[in-house]
Amino acid sequence: LENGLARTPPMGWMSWTAFYCELNCTKYPTGCINERLYMDMADRLASDGYREAGYVSVHVDDCWMERNRDGAGVLVADRERFPSGMQALAQYTHTRGLKFGIYEDYGTLTCGGYPGSYGYLKIDAQTFANWEVDYLKLDGCNINLDLMPIGYPQMERELNATGRPIVYSCSWPAYLIDHPHLVNYHVIGKSCNLWRNFDDINSSWKSIQSIINYYDHNQDKHIPTHGPGRWHDPDMLVIGNKGITVDMSIAQMTIWCIWSAPLIMSNDLRIIGKEFREILLNREAIAIDQDPLGVMGRLVANTTDIGVYVKPITPTAGSRTSFAIGILNRNITNAKTVEVVLWTLGLKDEAGYRVKDVWEKSDLGILKPSDKLRTQVNPTGAALFRAELVNQAPSPDRPFFFGD
Ligand code: GLA
Ligand code: GLA
Repeated sequence: LENGLARTPPMGWMSWTAFYCELNCTKYPTGCINERLYMDMADRLASDGYREAGYVSVHVDDCWMERNRDGAGVLVADRERFPSGMQALAQYTHTRGLKFGIYEDYGTLTCGGYPGSYGYLKIDAQTFANWEVDYLKLDGCNINLDLMPIGYPQMERELNATGRPIVYSCSWPAYLIDHPHLVNYHVIGKSCNLWRNFDDINSSWKSIQSIINYYDHNQDKHIPTHGPGRWHDPDMLVIGNKGITVDMSIAQMTIWCIWSAPLIMSNDLRIIGKEFREILLNREAIAIDQDPLGVMGRLVANTTDIGVYVKPITPTAGSRTSFAIGILNRNITNAKTVEVVLWTLGLKDEAGYRVKDVWEKSDLGILKPSDKLRTQVNPTGAALFRAELVNQAPSPDRPFFFGD
């Protein structure tokens, strides 16, 4: 969506996959959906280095509402769990230099059974603008699939009409997963800044792996329709959650960065381990994700266990680009040694590339297209490299001038 927003993939924190729809704040005082949860996470984003690394928004997910709208048809935040109201929460995040995201659903009810926006798109868009919301995730439960191409663009117009810049995240194609012929990402990208295409993630390797497989198989449809202002969203980062190892975390971060995917964490930043925090805060990985070209990387070599991905990144020189290279080991028990000749991946610049290992934080020096990149990858792990163009030697047909 060309509304000037989300020129790089959105980054932040969202509650769903770590806290779901937990309503019992008596039993789970720090694990239920209430304003305290979002204030705590805003505090962590601001104090623990996340904001500076680019994670700049706090996203409320489902289950924040009262079961009924007010007399004027306006949504009301749950009075017990959000006693200060949504505008106060938005302001709390803004005061900390963060953006505020909210959740609604195009249908009659949200997936969790709270009032949906069907029939109330205009009122809800205006309510969110009044509350100083910066981002809307509009889900697609409880609505006829035929209405998707009508309602989602309509909400875009309603948001636009409020005059407030609001990033617009759609779940439209995710609900058409069994009808791929009805999914036209060129059309969706005209109305939405980002969109979910596939199943909800959960904190398991099986889930991460299934998302990667889905994206692998659909990359020819995804890659050309991905870029600044219009991103495919493979769903939240589950790094730091029970069930996700360091290797799995590196694997998820590697592939999400190779895709230029939104980096929206769902975890508990109050108790996250240092080793996981470091993965989330790796500046070189984030720079690959946030690269201004915004190109989704491609699976270019594949065996049963190993996937090798290549993503063009800056700096560029004419038609020449630098690259990020991701190597995924899907084997769940065995480490694998991987050896690839650079030109077979499409890295053909004769001057060569300065190659850095993003996770090892080491410099491999300058590799030429005929050189081999060799690495060992842990089971359910990944390696990530940055291969930066080196200045080309002056060519005979283009004499060197001072001041070049
Ligand atoms: C759907 C979405 C999830 C989450 C839940 C909330 O399943 O895909 O990301 O928002 O609804 O109910
Ligand atoms: C190979 C792998 C699968 C899947 C596809 C994607 O076949 O074994 O798991 O990732 O590649 O192309």
